[in-house]
Amino acid sequence: MKNIAITTDFSEQTVYTKRVRELVFNIYGYIPKACVNTFGCQQNVSDSERLKGMLSACGYEIVDHMDDADFIIFNTCAVREHAEMRVFGNIGMTKKIKAERPNAVVAVCGCMVQQEHIAQKLKRSYPYVDIVMGTHVFHRLPEFLYKRLSGSPRIFELSMDNNTIVEDIPVKRDGTFKGWLPIMYGCNNFCTYCIVPYVRGRERSREPEKIIAEFKEMVKNGCKDITLLGQNVNSYGKGCEHGINFAKLLRMLNDVEGDFVIRFMTSHPKDCTVELLDTIRDCKKVTRHLHLPFQSGSSKILKRMNRYYDREGYLQLIKNAKERLPDADLTSDIIVGFPGETYEDFKETLSLVKEVKFASLFTFIYSKRNGTPAAIMDDPITREEKGKWFDELLKAQEEVAKENINKYLGKTYRVLCDDFGSRDGFMTGHTNGTAVIEFKAEQNLLGQFVEVKVLGYENGLYGEIINN
Ligand code: SAH
Ligand code: SF4
Ligand code: F3S
Repeated sequence: MKNIAITTDFSEQTVYTKRVRELVFNIYGYIPKACVNTFGCQQNVSDSERLKGMLSACGYEIVDHMDDADFIIFNTCAVREHAEMRVFGNIGMTKKIKAERPNAVVAVCGCMVQQEHIAQKLKRSYPYVDIVMGTHVFHRLPEFLYKRLSGSPRIFELSMDNNTIVEDIPVKRDGTFKGWLPIMYGCNNFCTYCIVPYVRGRERSREPEKIIAEFKEMVKNGCKDITLLGQNVNSYGKGCEHGINFAKLLRMLNDVEGDFVIRFMTSHPKDCTVELLDTIRDCKKVTRHLHLPFQSGSSKILKRMNRYYDREGYLQLIKNAKERLPDADLTSDIIVGFPGETYEDFKETLSLVKEVKFASLFTFIYSKRNGTPAAIMDDPITREEKGKWFDELLKAQEEVAKENINKYLGKTYRVLCDDFGSRDGFMTGHTNGTAVIEFKAEQNLLGQFVEVKVLGYENGLYGEIINN
């Protein structure tokens, strides 16, 4: 499938940012406040950084709480039912805010609104929502805001354009030394349980020059831990004329001057090539972490999920990965209770978990998504039964995690001090993989790399800084 994207820029919107700036000052008479509420995955976190960038350009001050905000936006997730219920609960809370301050503007964007039935529900039952905008038009926020503030009726803009990538959207990053960098958007895989391809559209990759320029800018501004993002990150570049695939892009970014580490998510096992594994091995700045969601250990279920690999294929991939990257942390996603899954199938998932020994897992009970092929498959196992299987899986992983601890003990890692610890005078940082270590450190080391030796485990790994 081709995924050649047309690149446009933000210039059309800059005229609106200026107009909104003038307008809000007239309406409010003070610098208005905006609150961005984010649900879902890192792609949404990254999009929200762009929402905040646009809002700052429009003259808003970004605040954490919606109680005194003049503009409130919900950037939503549709991947499971639970995520959607939480969003509706939160939107409901703005009813009171709008009653008290009618000049406040409420908007909803992200994956959830890209589903017809959700947009309809917002239209009918949430009259205090002013703007609903889909995943393909979120860069037009200044325009929508301008129109609504100058008296236009409620705005519902949900059109999808699968070819366009908009560059140069202003961005206001949440952190200074850790950052997100989207390199591709959308997904072509259509796993039968998943809503993402319907709400995010087809795969399209950013131009390498744009990515490298943004990457260099981040490094220049002090970013030391950069995560490359994509719903299917390792299919980067497919169908593009420039011929730069994900492995090649990684090499190019690894060559950028500076002291930093590169992470990436999420990879699909089918696109995890030997070339990519060799590249990770060769590139010293790329972390030793592979997130390879396998979803189910049963080949029968994998086929019904449309995952393009079977149990044997996945285990071969893990073997290749362990040979080339023996010190890497492997992580994965698993769905329990896919329609038609039997306890026998589930036991294959359990045995795979025990065999591979993942560093950590993200586990989910299957959630029916309207409009996906799995939604109409027979699903005879009760939620209660699935819950029991789920608990069994968590127990198995707990055992594996206990064994895994030994791998870290006594070793020395280069870690970025990325947070304050649970006790005064302590910090936490990530290893070159995914593990977190707590250690005693001067608080001004936040955002610096240090060498830490792991001494033991007590509710988490702890260690001490050496030779700093
Ligand atoms: N693109 C990524 C992940 C997307 S969503 C990938 O393919 O790996 C993150 C995880 O949510 C998925 O890996 C899957 O385990 C889970 N998930 C997606 N749809 C789901 C559903 N309908 N019910 C339960 N879990 C789901
Ligand atoms: Fe969903 Fe599958 Fe695409 Fe991941 S690869 S986003 S699970 S359809
Ligand atoms: Fe959710 Fe959309 Fe991400 S559905 S998981 S926010 S791509």
